[in-house]
Amino acid sequence: MHPTTKIIILSILVLSFQYAYSQGNCPYLAVQGNKQHLVVDGKPFIVRGGELGNSSFTSVEYMKPHWATLKEMHLNTVLAPVYWELIEPKKGQFEFGLLDELIQEARNNDLKLILLWFGSWKNSMSSHVPAWIKTDQSIYPRAVDERGNSQEILTPFSQENLEADKRAFVALMNHLKEIDSKDQTVIMVQPENEIGMLPSARDYHDFANAAFSEEVPVELLTYLQANREDLVPEFKALWKRNGYKTEGNWEEVFGAGYQTDELFMAWHFAQYTEEITKAGKEAYGLPMFVNAALIRPGKIPGEYPSAGPLPHLMDIWRAGTPSIDFFSPDFYNPDFEYWNDLYTRQANTLFVPEHAFDGTVGAKALFTIGHYEGIGFSPFSIENGVSNQLKGAYSVLEQLEPLIGQKIGQNALEGVLLDGSKVMTTVVLGDYEFSFKNSYTLGWEAGASKEVWDSGGALILQVGPKEFYIAGSGVVATFKNWKNRSKTVGILKCEEGRLENGQWQIIRHLNGDQTHQGRHVRISHDQYSILRVQLYEYD
Ligand code: DGJ
Repeated sequence: MHPTTKIIILSILVLSFQYAYSQGNCPYLAVQGNKQHLVVDGKPFIVRGGELGNSSFTSVEYMKPHWATLKEMHLNTVLAPVYWELIEPKKGQFEFGLLDELIQEARNNDLKLILLWFGSWKNSMSSHVPAWIKTDQSIYPRAVDERGNSQEILTPFSQENLEADKRAFVALMNHLKEIDSKDQTVIMVQPENEIGMLPSARDYHDFANAAFSEEVPVELLTYLQANREDLVPEFKALWKRNGYKTEGNWEEVFGAGYQTDELFMAWHFAQYTEEITKAGKEAYGLPMFVNAALIRPGKIPGEYPSAGPLPHLMDIWRAGTPSIDFFSPDFYNPDFEYWNDLYTRQANTLFVPEHAFDGTVGAKALFTIGHYEGIGFSPFSIENGVSNQLKGAYSVLEQLEPLIGQKIGQNALEGVLLDGSKVMTTVVLGDYEFSFKNSYTLGWEAGASKEVWDSGGALILQVGPKEFYIAGSGVVATFKNWKNRSKTVGILKCEEGRLENGQWQIIRHLNGDQTHQGRHVRISHDQYSILRVQLYEYD
């Protein structure tokens, strides 16, 4: 591991314990082996999440029929907005009654909550700020585009905007501490939502123009110099192109153009977010993260919500938001693996707070936890109905949670994600190389004739030198000993079963047709199941 990565992990560890200590052991992030994970009620916690639609957490009545749906899919956590306009309808007067009732409902259903602070920004816009802010532009100024038009976006360059948001967020966190630090129903908080500048790459408010002509802050340049070798390559290339300058204004250091406009905005959005987050954590130190809308192909800054915590801006966000624990991608685009690979650089912990609620979510939930050892997954608009894929995946994750908790960070976990465009992959655990294929490749299942293949996915967990759990759907696996290719690897035992309180209960001994007479192990697309597999070798 690179020394800087080690330092990052150690600092996270120290900070996590400091927060846990200072807050009387509220949920916190800890490091085990080479990974960071979430600890809730003293145990590793995998978020089997789902995010509510944007207006769903606004009444107890509306939510009533939905809790049962969430439970049916084996969720353990709901991601739910808290709306600035509803908690501070009049300046300085906070109303938490509705939030309290909703928290109580979550408790009644034995669900944890991750709260999303719809404060200054929600999907770039400032739609959730209270009316008293919307209607007083002279005090609470807005971002201005390059044509001089004000947007429904609070400018991050206003101290008034920042102080107002910070006061409300701190009031929220104080309130959570008061009503929830014992039960710990709320386990994490996301300040703001999908921050991003539109429709120009930068803000042209007078305050913004003044800041743009100032020197690049020393704080940022010091961070960049100290971490020069570990910067994300696309950002490093940009800085290098302009000669790695270490003083001057934004255009002098990074060159003129929309890329620099975006860096400048990223720094100021990050600083605003940092002030809010830091103050919120001082009130109640829950883990906090920020999310980003991913870039649609072919778009340039200003055409997509720019300057949020996107992979190419990660160094700016890291330097600007030391209080943020990790950065998260929201998925409404394809290329799940590509984006997650970018988000897990520099030891960033993966949490997927939003994914379109489609037929791929079961496979992707398992891949997120298995391959990236992520702390959770969460489809968006989760109350819209029951997905059998998600239900299946969350059921196996629920059973495996204690084992996953033990194995995090030990190189004992893996995951695969396969569809029609990626039909096979290999993973290595211990001495064994597993070749996984989408089970449609066998041609035995009716779905194999579909034009677009369903996603198959699995989580693989090593529990002994030759023993593994394989949990998922739509996969078939064969094995090799990568250390000794002269040996042939066979299946000594393949059991299908379930884990009840950590105890393995066998449902079937699989052999014969179910393992193709010992040639492979397989879970078809029509089920989610857990296999316990023991391998052996012969000459
Ligand atoms: C991403 C946002 O973060 C959500 O709040 C919601 O608006 C979805 N997009 C809608 O697709």
